[in-house]
Amino acid sequence: MKKVRVFAPASIANLGCGFDVMGLALDEVGDVLEIIASEGDGLTITNTTQVPLPDDIEQNVITPVVRKFLSLIDKKAQIDVTICRKIYPGSGIGSSAASSAAAAYGMNELFGCPLSDEQVVECAMEGENLASGGYHADNAAPAVLGGIVLIRGYHPLDIIQLPVPGNFYCAVVHPHIVVNTKDARNILPPNVSLHKAVSQWGNVGGLVAGLYSGNIGLVGRSMNDVVAEPYRKQFIPGFDDLRNKLLAAKALAMNISGSGPSVFALTDRHDVAQRAGWIMKEHFDKLGISSEVYVVKVSNKGAKLCGVNI
Ligand code: HSE
Repeated sequence: MKKVRVFAPASIANLGCGFDVMGLALDEVGDVLEIIASEGDGLTITNTTQVPLPDDIEQNVITPVVRKFLSLIDKKAQIDVTICRKIYPGSGIGSSAASSAAAAYGMNELFGCPLSDEQVVECAMEGENLASGGYHADNAAPAVLGGIVLIRGYHPLDIIQLPVPGNFYCAVVHPHIVVNTKDARNILPPNVSLHKAVSQWGNVGGLVAGLYSGNIGLVGRSMNDVVAEPYRKQFIPGFDDLRNKLLAAKALAMNISGSGPSVFALTDRHDVAQRAGWIMKEHFDKLGISSEVYVVKVSNKGAKLCGVNI
């Protein structure tokens, strides 16, 4: 019997212009799982947190991740997973990806690291597919690898880790409204006009160049999304007004976090991040919507062990 305790961080997907291809990991906030592998053939998942999760393991994102891992290494095992810490599902900071990444990373560690980083992310993407109906890695890859990540291509998976500027903070607000990721994906038109595509790939290039050169102003002005945000912002009350307030308070950018409902402001100053968090909370309070605010540093750390017991 072998046991691991593993952490995987929360994450912010898209970063404005990078729909399905860019994401970053957040410091400290995340999921913790304990995974035991022993002889046999089966899977149990026990939730010890106060966060409500489906009782049916077929509805838990961990299940397809574990199955994909075992099928890739062509082994059978009895796997018993305990969920010890859980980000609230639907928060828009990669709750399903954190569990999926922790499960994929933990399984790989338990079995002696037979899979590459890309394969671990591929396993985690199975959980994302169950949660959202799409194979996207822009939460799963940063949750596994940490830092800021570009998915250059999906076939085959080609993941590029980008430089993380020293002091990069996110103020994230989770307003207590429900935006289902599947709905937020289904609302998007299947085709993008050439005009919009030109704008979007210019911004993605600008964001990558800004991160490599440490040009914070370029990073900020590149985080502009003309593909998903115009359709999704209707789900977030007062979105444009909130953005204006945050930019006036010197945030570099403000965007929807993944498919929402969370939104985030990016800044290179801790005091601006704190002020942004306060502005976000006040915005939703005034609309009668309760919310949670996180002010966190962008993290270079991805999934990691926090205890092993053989
Ligand atoms: N890229 C995905 C989307 C992230 O925007 O639908 C979901 O969190």
